[in-house]
Amino acid sequence: MSKILVVYATSEGRTEEIVETIAERMSKAGHAVETTPVESVFDGQIAEADGVLLAASVHFGRHAQAARDFVQSHRTELISCPSGFLSVSLHAAKEETLSIAQGYIDAFLAESGWDPDLSGTAAGALRYSRYGFFKRLMMRQIARRKGLPTDASRDHDFTDEEKLADFTDRFLHVVNTSEERPETAGAG
Ligand SMILES: Cc1cc2nc3c(=O)[nH]c(=O)nc-3n(C[C@H](O)[C@H](O)[C@H](O)COP(=O)(O)O)c2cc1C
Repeated sequence: MSKILVVYATSEGRTEEIVETIAERMSKAGHAVETTPVESVFDGQIAEADGVLLAASVHFGRHAQAARDFVQSHRTELISCPSGFLSVSLHAAKEETLSIAQGYIDAFLAESGWDPDLSGTAAGALRYSRYGFFKRLMMRQIARRKGLPTDASRDHDFTDEEKLADFTDRFLHVVNTSEERPETAGAG
């Protein structure tokens, strides 16, 4: 059993729900999982974990400032333990815009100087019910341009649960295999 910390940055709540789904799968696999908003991570919490996953959503082409600050403040600890990054965005919802979603990750990692063992994208949601008047107008216009739903009378979730499960399993594999690493790594 490993102790896993899942840290998240969310604006409209979808990333938090995605993290709960991930945490549930990790728990079912027998791991002890803690989920924490990025602003609430306390000193020593990362050092206690066997693996750290950061999930953050994209707004206006960038991940939340809080996520960038988190990596900047904890880069050394993140580098010394198995780590992963999950980027939540609308561009991840369609095959033809996946390269844009990947671009958000590339920019985030290049800026932060963090090289996680695993990174991936997850499609987020259009949460019309949570947007104010102008944001709803803007998001409908963007949705129309991108071929996404414009019906603002309800919310629309695009997360591919199978892809999320696969990402979770790959992260667990990273954590599990790194537990086997020290003996060989220390041998040199
Ligand atoms: C104001 C606003 C700006 C957004 N900008 C982008 C963007 O630049 N690229 C993108 O792929 N998704 C964009 N999104 C979509 C969000 O990434 C998506 O709604 C995600 O589910 C938000 O996650 P959260 O609820 O955890 O914050 C934007 C959403 C909003 C409301």
